Amino acid sequence: MSSQDIPEENLPSTQDAHGGAVTKTAGDPFADPGLPPHEPRIQDVDERAAQRSERVVAFLFLLSMLATVGFIASYVSLPVDKSIYVFPIGHISALNFALGMTLAVALFCIGAGAVHWARTLMSDVEVADERHAIAAEPDVKAKVMADFKQGAEESAFGRRKLIRNTMFGALALVPLSGVMLLRDLGPLPGTKLRKTAWSEGKMLINQNTLQPLRPEDIQVGSLTFAMPEGMKEEDHDFQQEIAKAALMIIRLQPENIKDKRELDWSADGIVAFSKICTHVGCPISLYEQQTHHVLCPCHQSTFDLSDGGRVIFGPAGHALPQLRIKVNDKGYLEAMGDFAEPVGPAYWERG
Ligand code: FES
Repeated sequence: MSSQDIPEENLPSTQDAHGGAVTKTAGDPFADPGLPPHEPRIQDVDERAAQRSERVVAFLFLLSMLATVGFIASYVSLPVDKSIYVFPIGHISALNFALGMTLAVALFCIGAGAVHWARTLMSDVEVADERHAIAAEPDVKAKVMADFKQGAEESAFGRRKLIRNTMFGALALVPLSGVMLLRDLGPLPGTKLRKTAWSEGKMLINQNTLQPLRPEDIQVGSLTFAMPEGMKEEDHDFQQEIAKAALMIIRLQPENIKDKRELDWSADGIVAFSKICTHVGCPISLYEQQTHHVLCPCHQSTFDLSDGGRVIFGPAGHALPQLRIKVNDKGYLEAMGDFAEPVGPAYWERG
């Protein structure tokens, strides 16, 4: 038997959000079941429970404020190079850990406070609204405003001043975390970018094998990465120094070297250039052995290592700095000084 055959008075009844019966018709096989009856929460009937919830929400917002203060204190007081052991990750930067944890707590507490507030204290009466035309009539707009005011009234935003004030406090403080990070824009590096770890007599160390390089280790067509002798990965400033001193080494036939200074600064056709792109500082790693071009993977700047590291394509504004090298008495490649110009983008000190 289909629902059309059932007398309307025999159809099962349901209730809407306020406990009212939902209208059914015999021709509608999928009648809207309506919303379950509204159950008041403990906070709706017990003012002491409502006050307890209010205190929990305020506590979460206060915790957010404390975490933001902790973020700022960590940022100002923790040294950049201090590391701590965190199980199960291992050794990590204490500063990064503190900044991440405090910011996470600050944001989480704001979210948790808002959710707890909405779940326990704001009105939880279910409301169903029909779709309507996009352009609202004046009387609809008036109703929306009235509903908005009623919602504000029911959320007790004006009445529960403790929640309102702590929430404003947490929301006002949390952007300070971002403002503090602006401090990283300074101070200017001065001449720090001009100096690298290279100096006269420092041997070129293969970055993969960690062995000093001899000319015979460099084959035509290969690209070798090197760093100055004396640098160790466990040194606290290793990353900072290698970011400036990293070197690319290739071997060319001397007659293929077009730039006279490049030829003078080479050793047995071996040339050494900074690995740091002069656009915005990405490490260069793609070598095309037929053309002697190297390509930066970030924005495709291309440099000609047989012509003084000249830019032949892309947004980089300067040639790659070359390191002057020679073969020492023991047969190893060594630097004859630091780079003659700043490595990387080197914005302001180039002039
Ligand atoms: S960083 Fe190399 S092209 Fe942009």
